[in-house]
Amino acid sequence: KRVLRLALLGCGTVGSEVIRLLHRNGDELAARVGARLEIAGIAVRRLTVDRSDLPVPAELFTDDPMSLIERDDVDVVIEVVGGLEPARDWLLAALKSGKSVVTANKALLAEDGAALQAAAAEGGADLYYEASVAGGIPLLGPLRESLHGDRITRVMGIVNGTTNFILSAMDSTGAGFGEALEEATALGYAEADPTADVEGYDAAAKAAILASLAFHTPVTAADVYREGITEITAADVASARTIGCTVKLLCIAQRQVDADGTESVGVRVHPAMIPRSHPLAGVTGAFNAVFVEADAAGELMFYGRGAGGSPTASAVLGDVVAVARHKLTGVRSASDTSYALLPVRPIGEA
Ligand code: HSE
Repeated sequence: KRVLRLALLGCGTVGSEVIRLLHRNGDELAARVGARLEIAGIAVRRLTVDRSDLPVPAELFTDDPMSLIERDDVDVVIEVVGGLEPARDWLLAALKSGKSVVTANKALLAEDGAALQAAAAEGGADLYYEASVAGGIPLLGPLRESLHGDRITRVMGIVNGTTNFILSAMDSTGAGFGEALEEATALGYAEADPTADVEGYDAAAKAAILASLAFHTPVTAADVYREGITEITAADVASARTIGCTVKLLCIAQRQVDADGTESVGVRVHPAMIPRSHPLAGVTGAFNAVFVEADAAGELMFYGRGAGGSPTASAVLGDVVAVARHKLTGVRSASDTSYALLPVRPIGEA
């Protein structure tokens, strides 16, 4: 029986949902992948935290991520810790040694994606990061695969759930920024330190990742013009309302023709007034939505839950399956139907 062994780095909101989802879908995934996906170890910062509610044996936990990555029996490394260091060292080490990586780390990809790609090429490893942008929404897959025959001209949308929750609350209740942020924090949408979200850093990192994939050009977070939502007042939202608009934090990445006639890529994140009739105006709460415009495909819209443990775990595990298939078959096929998991019957038949 074939087994593919996973090293999980991080066991917070996303990591613990990855464990639960793998536990829940393990048998079916084994049938679909042709190998059991097994957790070889879980690296955490503090071993003393009680994690007895998770469906994994306690001996899998370690506080030594590098030793876990270097173990011979580890095939794939999943990183859901976030931040630049020490994640960068872990992922570079894994990729260079030929271990494929699935990561949700937008900050690292937006700063040093090129170094990660180079390490993956050097080690002959896969690097997948669907979970880094827009949580559970399959967006990077379409950009990096399905739309490769086309020419994308623009990517625009709402890629930060926390700020969208805050702006939606300000719009529906007339609250000020501070009050809406307090509500977002109380409900668990905003983190204890909301800076990365409300100042637009999180959206800028995601914008850089989207632009890099859409335009086949390395774009880093430093290339993104960025403005957050902390200066937006209840009066701003009210005056937008009087002219039939609502305020959204938008990420926009586009091909543009400069004054000298040459083409370039421009990327920005800032609050904007959009007409209430625009589809993005209806995206409220912690949801995300992204428009992609391509020459041949036309306008596409992706919508769903952009944050949260469960949606993000879905994106992580999807990438793990893609990596596993590639590893086992040598073919990078997104899916196959060579197995029969369920019988087919007319709808309504008992
Ligand atoms: N803080 C992020 C958000 C989490 O609010 O969208 C998902 O990346």
